[in-house]
Amino acid sequence: MTKPAERASFDLDNTDPELLQHLHETLGEMQGTCPVAWSSASGGFWALTKYDDVVTASNDWETFTVTRGIMIPPTGASMPVIPAELDPPRHTRLRKLVLPNFTDKALQQWRPGLEQIIDEAFRPLLPAGRADLVVDIAHPVPVLAICLILGIDSDWRRIRELATNFLAATGQPALARQRAHELEAYLEEEIEARRGKPVEDLLGQYVNARIDDEEIPAREMLGLVQLMVVAGHETTVNGMGSMIYRLIVEPGLRERVLADRSLIGAVIDETLRLHPPVWNMGRTVAEETEMRGESLCPGEKVMLVYGAANRDPEKFAEPDTFDIDRPGNGRHLTFGIGRHRCLGEPLAKLELRLALEYVLDHLPDVELDGEPRWGGGTNQHGLRSLPVRFTPSGG
Ligand code: HEM
Repeated sequence: MTKPAERASFDLDNTDPELLQHLHETLGEMQGTCPVAWSSASGGFWALTKYDDVVTASNDWETFTVTRGIMIPPTGASMPVIPAELDPPRHTRLRKLVLPNFTDKALQQWRPGLEQIIDEAFRPLLPAGRADLVVDIAHPVPVLAICLILGIDSDWRRIRELATNFLAATGQPALARQRAHELEAYLEEEIEARRGKPVEDLLGQYVNARIDDEEIPAREMLGLVQLMVVAGHETTVNGMGSMIYRLIVEPGLRERVLADRSLIGAVIDETLRLHPPVWNMGRTVAEETEMRGESLCPGEKVMLVYGAANRDPEKFAEPDTFDIDRPGNGRHLTFGIGRHRCLGEPLAKLELRLALEYVLDHLPDVELDGEPRWGGGTNQHGLRSLPVRFTPSGG
């Protein structure tokens, strides 16, 4: 066992908002000097920054468990997020319940509804020729999208506020508990309104589903719905902001994509590789193990640093460059890997695609109109503001 004093260490404080202003420079330095590093921030954790190490830990669920929380530091949620904090076999069963509704094929039925959400978000902005694409577009769209799919048609602003407040309080235990409680209370109402009733929407189907001929316990259902609302919210907002930012600032990119829409998939993947909206996820060591000569002991937290792994020069040549032609740019770890790989990936990518198509169709000359502002949280990173101008149109 490595004694604490002998551990390779690097001061990565993911609760420091200042870190988000130079996140990728810091992660790059860490990967280059100390790829498996102990940080004493957030109660102490091992940070894995190499691509292969993140893959190894993600695939070895018995050594690196999710059951003691996946956020470093923990959120104030009073129960596990489902299925992200479950091991098999329960994880497998719950994932199976939800997965069929989030495949590319299943999502096609929501395409017109999603296009309408995007159109309604953009249209009022068109006559002005000026907007903040993060505040005005990216913020409302993902929450409306998940509410549409689940069948929650109540006030999206309230849900967005509750989800944002919940994530923003991470690391402040008392406030985090209060915020988690507020979000849980709201979602509980939506769940209970459907219990035992012939509700046709997707949330109603989940609430009344049976696994191995048993009802899904209320707390598990709440954890599942909570994750879908929170996981699909700020993440997609961040992805959308970074994608439009890249479209604007990368020389020649807009012209190429306008001429050839088949490049959209590569634009989305390369954006997500370079700017992972979730820059880390946590695990806890369940059995003593070794990585690059460091001993990781039971109970210690481990951070899977996707933000560094996606720019690992051993996997991606010139990793800091945005290059839609790089071979295999879809191999990034932005959605995780292994049994907990994001099940919302097809939905997130569809939302990003529709938003990008809208911009190409209606704001083809979009330009920056001020300084974009980066921000995020203990595991999120993205633009908080993207002021733009474009030729006004009728709306
Ligand atoms: C760009 C947008 C998104 C990003 C970057 C993202 C990223 C992630 C990551 C990193 C994980 C954890 C992987 C792990 O711990 O190994 C995850 C899990 C998950 N995400 Fe997403 N996500 C996004 C959008 C969504 C959306 C729209 C939904 C809505 C359904 C969603 C639902 C989930 C769920 C349910 C899990 C848990 C899966 C499991 O444990 O089996 N995500 N996501």
